Amino acid sequence: MGRVNFGVSAFFVFCLLGLSANAKVFNIGSPPGSDITKALLKTFNEACQFPTKSTVLIPKGEYKLGEIEMLGPCKAPIRIALQGTLKADGNAVHNQKWVAFRNINGFKLNGGGVFDGEGNAAWRVNNCHKTEQCKKLPISIRFDYITDGKVRGITSLDAKNFHINVIGAKNLTFEEVRIIAPAESPNTDGIHVGRSDGIKIINSVITTGDDCVSVGDGMKNLLVERVTCGPGHGISVGSLGRYGHEQDVKGIKIINCTLQETDNGIRIKTWPSAACSTSASDIHFENIVLKNVTNPILIDQEYCPWNHCNKAKPSTIKLSNISFKNIRGTSGNKDAVKLLCSKGFPCQNVELGNIDIKYTGADGPATFQCANVSPKIMGTQVPKACSSPVTKPPQ
Ligand SMILES: *[C@@H]1O[C@H](CO)[C@@H](O)[C@H](O)[C@H]1NC(C)=O
Ligand SMILES: *[C@@H]1O[C@H](CO)[C@@H](O)[C@H](O)[C@H]1NC(C)=O
Ligand SMILES: *[C@@H]1O[C@H](CO)[C@@H](O)[C@H](O)[C@H]1NC(C)=O
Ligand SMILES: *[C@@H]1O[C@H](CO)[C@@H](O)[C@H](O)[C@H]1NC(C)=O
Repeated sequence: MGRVNFGVSAFFVFCLLGLSANAKVFNIGSPPGSDITKALLKTFNEACQFPTKSTVLIPKGEYKLGEIEMLGPCKAPIRIALQGTLKADGNAVHNQKWVAFRNINGFKLNGGGVFDGEGNAAWRVNNCHKTEQCKKLPISIRFDYITDGKVRGITSLDAKNFHINVIGAKNLTFEEVRIIAPAESPNTDGIHVGRSDGIKIINSVITTGDDCVSVGDGMKNLLVERVTCGPGHGISVGSLGRYGHEQDVKGIKIINCTLQETDNGIRIKTWPSAACSTSASDIHFENIVLKNVTNPILIDQEYCPWNHCNKAKPSTIKLSNISFKNIRGTSGNKDAVKLLCSKGFPCQNVELGNIDIKYTGADGPATFQCANVSPKIMGTQVPKACSSPVTKPPQ
């Protein structure tokens, strides 16, 4: 019996450590407290060149980590088991990123560890949220060109800029990820995805100073499910149309999510310029709970921060096949639903079903505004939906 029990518990310990029995483990072998930049790069490269499955192990403890790029392709699937806490230097301003994983096919990142961007000192000197002319701070974790990947059970704390940025991914899942930064930290988007096909963000908690999830151009087939967001700026498709050479957005599903105390809930925003004429279609928001959310449902085709654009020119981004279903809870302002589409390219095939958004402020009740759209309305309508296209109300 004793032996059997030992075997079983050893197996469980193995699983808890996130190590799989058939992968060769490469331990960074550095003591807690040390700077592991060189050791991690060397260990990653060894594991990456190993001919069969490998695991890079960063054991429990706190480590300093400088700017690093872990670059594939690797010879076999690779897993990074981060059990410890990695700390970026609070004052150091790296290049475009702090940590990058790039060109890897068959990738896992797990182990329950923490990426601590130590953003506090950097936020105080950052003014990118007020002006375009500013020094960009590093993104905490970049996933560039990852195919067949899974990121599970890790935490990103106090990023200096975006927490996580994904580009060029095919089939990448984020599960049980925690993202934490104060509400007042500037530009700390939780997970930004773009130019990828097949990303899932599941069962995760994002509390940060900017968008919880933001979707850039070229994103196809994104599922965001059971994500709790707030504080933060909500879940946002766009902004689109600022630059030339953008690609279409298609197949976005946001389901069973909760937004609490966020500025903006679920929104689609495009710049009112003609830099490019792409489309964003097949975008569905379903089963969303709102708790004191400002601007809960928003399509804004005149998105123009810093007034660096000509609002008279209509947006050339074509929005179509968009639905909002079972959206309920409380709004923090009277603008519960605003669908402000482009006068050059009115939104096509927008559906709203079972909308129940209450606002109890003195300037209430909640309103539902439409411009350049005739939404199809079904079920509950609180506030009462605009029934026919109306012109935009004065600002
Ligand atoms: C997606 O990636 C996961 C994890 O790497 C893998 O197990 C799965 O087979 C991939 N699915 C497809 C359709 O490629
Ligand atoms: C979403 O939540 C509802 C209940 O709130 C549940 O019935 C449904 O299965 C969930 N959908 C998914 C895909 O988890
Ligand atoms: C709603 O959020 C605002 C801040 O956006 C806050 O001032 C207010 O107290 C909150 N109301 C409730 C009922 O929580
Ligand atoms: C919108 O949906 C309709 C009908 O479901 C489909 O025929 C059309 O191709 C879709 N448009 C886009 C741009 O996906």
